[in-house]
Amino acid sequence: MKVLVVGSGGREHAIAWKIGQSSRATEVFVAPGNAGTATDAQNVDIAMNDISALVKFAKENDIGLTVVGPEIPLCDGIVDAFESENLKVFGPSKSAAQLEGSKVFCKNVLRSADVPTADFQEFKDASTAERYVNERYAETPNDCPLVVKADGLAAGKGAIVCSTRDEVLEAIDIIARQKQFGSAGDKMIIEDRLQGVEASILAITDGRTILTFPPAEDHKRAHDGDAGPNTGGMGAYCPTPSIDEKTLRWVESSVLVPTVHVMKRQRNPFRGILYAGMMMTPQGPKVLEYNVRFGDPECQPLLMRMKTDFLDLLEATVDRRLGEIGPLEWDERPSVCVVMASEGYPGEYEKGKPIRGLEEAAKIEDVKVFHAGTKLDGEGNPVTNGGRVLGVTAMGDTVSAAKLQAYKAIKCIRWDGAWCRKDISDKAITMNI
Ligand code: AMP
Ligand code: GLY
Repeated sequence: MKVLVVGSGGREHAIAWKIGQSSRATEVFVAPGNAGTATDAQNVDIAMNDISALVKFAKENDIGLTVVGPEIPLCDGIVDAFESENLKVFGPSKSAAQLEGSKVFCKNVLRSADVPTADFQEFKDASTAERYVNERYAETPNDCPLVVKADGLAAGKGAIVCSTRDEVLEAIDIIARQKQFGSAGDKMIIEDRLQGVEASILAITDGRTILTFPPAEDHKRAHDGDAGPNTGGMGAYCPTPSIDEKTLRWVESSVLVPTVHVMKRQRNPFRGILYAGMMMTPQGPKVLEYNVRFGDPECQPLLMRMKTDFLDLLEATVDRRLGEIGPLEWDERPSVCVVMASEGYPGEYEKGKPIRGLEEAAKIEDVKVFHAGTKLDGEGNPVTNGGRVLGVTAMGDTVSAAKLQAYKAIKCIRWDGAWCRKDISDKAITMNI
């Protein structure tokens, strides 16, 4: 079967690489892809938001399955467009993708499904929101633990975590007056700030059956010790010991199953990857947000460990026969993915720096270097093309062994301004796993 993967990040490289391991995959295309997918698959020069060109390519090239990586085309209705042309496509419909595309929609589903989440209020304009905050926190302006969130997609930057009333008022201003996230800020929610350890719990569902993946942990802040600004994710590992088997089963039965049921009851069935961003609070696990696709970089360590045929799994989901797939099989060994980034990221950064040492890194055992922000220059050599450039992913008998392998590979790779966090997975190591 010929497969098309839509996207150009580390997640899409991992998806294309894993699909390529299936004996049923004859050709794997990635649109638009990066320098890594140019090696492990074939790149197609179509942007991920050019849905009609993607449909045309799939038809003309007899693509048997299209797999959509990022949330933007999903929220734009790529799945509906493919399905209306009778093309097989993996991912939720536009309407089901609102679970990620609208925080208000997500909160209402969580409420209907009786899933634990932070208490929240919805606002459509800045002055009502300001009045609410000024009244509720009149006596305690310095103790105002709230999170202000733009309703729509904001490239992971739309949630502003605050401690004081002034910070909350500034966040309202940024979202609803300055419109820094554009129309994503036409609505917003203000919710209670939760405390605890975060974990990413992903599952695959055809709308009826749900198969939950081992829990992973992302590292969202730029610097060691979870300091510095938020990023798209500086590294991830899997499994995380902060979620034991009992908690994972609880999240499955009390979070994922009721969510999928509510969506089905509302005649808006969810099919694809359901990714629960969880916070382990003293009152128990609560959902921070849902994403409707694989996490990036969580996808890389997850797929590194997957032993089930990935193409079979994706196709069974699209065909609504996930119940026929046995329990998912995983490599017992943990995996760690460390993101190497451009100088300046998550702020401004330059592109086009030649990347060296990738061949040496590839020789290191149990390591796979997934490309993210890379491209091939005119002479076919890899150069940087984004903020998060590579996701160096390794497996080992323990988390520390996997971490060591990943950093060994990183030592081989160089470009002007390359940097990474040095403490990816350390939380697991201090928990002695
Ligand atoms: P979101 O866009 O909803 O995923 O939020 C992005 C990040 O903001 C999360 O990964 C958390 O680190 C943080 N966050 C979101 N909601 C809350 C909350 N209610 N309490 C504390 N932190 C939060
Ligand atoms: N790793 C966070 C995300 O993919 O949203």
